[in-house]
Amino acid sequence: MITLDIKDTKTGGGERLDSYIKAHENVLSQVVSGEEKYKDFLGWFHTSQWAGEDTLDRIQALADQIRADGDAFVLIGVGGSNNAARSVIEALKTEDSPQIIYGGNTLSPAALGQMMDKVQGKRIYIDCIAKNFETLEPGSSFRILRKYMYDTYGSQEAARRIIATGTRGSLLEQICREHGYTFLDFPEDVGGRFSALTNVGLLPMAVAGIDIRRLVKGAADMERELLQAPAIKNTAFRYACLRNMYLEQGYTLEMLASFEPAFRWFYKWWVQLFAETEGKDGKGLFPVTGEYSEELHAVGQFVQDGTPLMFETFLNVREATGSLIVENDGIKDAFDYLDGMDFQNINRTAFEATVKAHCQKLPCLILTIDTLDEYHFGQMFYFFLFACYLSAKMLGVNPFDQPGVEAYKNWMFEGLGKC
Ligand code: PA5
Repeated sequence: MITLDIKDTKTGGGERLDSYIKAHENVLSQVVSGEEKYKDFLGWFHTSQWAGEDTLDRIQALADQIRADGDAFVLIGVGGSNNAARSVIEALKTEDSPQIIYGGNTLSPAALGQMMDKVQGKRIYIDCIAKNFETLEPGSSFRILRKYMYDTYGSQEAARRIIATGTRGSLLEQICREHGYTFLDFPEDVGGRFSALTNVGLLPMAVAGIDIRRLVKGAADMERELLQAPAIKNTAFRYACLRNMYLEQGYTLEMLASFEPAFRWFYKWWVQLFAETEGKDGKGLFPVTGEYSEELHAVGQFVQDGTPLMFETFLNVREATGSLIVENDGIKDAFDYLDGMDFQNINRTAFEATVKAHCQKLPCLILTIDTLDEYHFGQMFYFFLFACYLSAKMLGVNPFDQPGVEAYKNWMFEGLGKC
């Protein structure tokens, strides 16, 4: 379950929300009834379509094989092809799992060199995840790593250790068939940033020891809830309405902030989801993130006191993971007020104080999950995917394209001599 609280003494957003919802509830009903217009992009909409029992069995079996004789797994992918998996893996990975190495997300020779250093001497598997197998970062990293695999293992064993996730009929599939690599479907009807609950996100997570069944269960439960809840009680719809309401009021940024550093990579997923889905036709909220409490000592100044650009959405975890008591070591350091206190309480107090201070100056929303675990990651994925779709529709943009990323690519490909 995800709850939404509004702390907005500044603009009174909470009081205006219900009438805004009433004025826009047709957006929710269109989406829930399944829009013909976007049917080719809605493969993610029903979790069971690409994360049903059979798929989960197949993914888990492949992951178990990799875990049995792999020290490391290289996830070759960029943007939607790696952000979801990375967000969960970096928050929840288990110590006894293969190391997950990220490749295919940079063109920097220094970073690529570091990636190659990490694979040396390890028994590795690689998974090239690319929906459009023309993207430069994964395509070029796949080349480098493929060569390494052949040089290290010879062609037969290399082929056994190479996986690729692409669309049916693509050049990537053809390469897999010709060379004997394992091929997994990148669903044609799921865009990269919507692909968390498909082979794309789930295989790397399973390799890292993530309980993908719990994660998918969380998403499926959230799907059921959001497809049934009426507009006024629908948490994702309420959130989507608030986003558009604040944009219309002149706020141009949404800051997602949390006191859990484990969300560091989830932020990247969230930023991509909203930026690429909504930032078009000269519209959209610019998504930014705040890693609190650390960044209260940096951007916190601007948030409280700078140009009033943003509203803030806090990602709150009700039950803290871990517990650590501050003990008195007898040294008079003026921190005695912390004696015997658990960091759970310290962190919570900092969070509550921040909301109190910020909501005097800017609208604050609080999205709360119960615990930081697989189930709730699944809930958050579905929640934000659904909310983002609604929000983009309300904004009046196509949620599923990304024409803006082509401009630089055209210049880059021309510079690199691609015909
Ligand atoms: O959401 C999207 O569609 C994009 O961000 C893609 O995920 C990203 O560009 C990577 O694309 P590809 O998997 O085709 O290399």
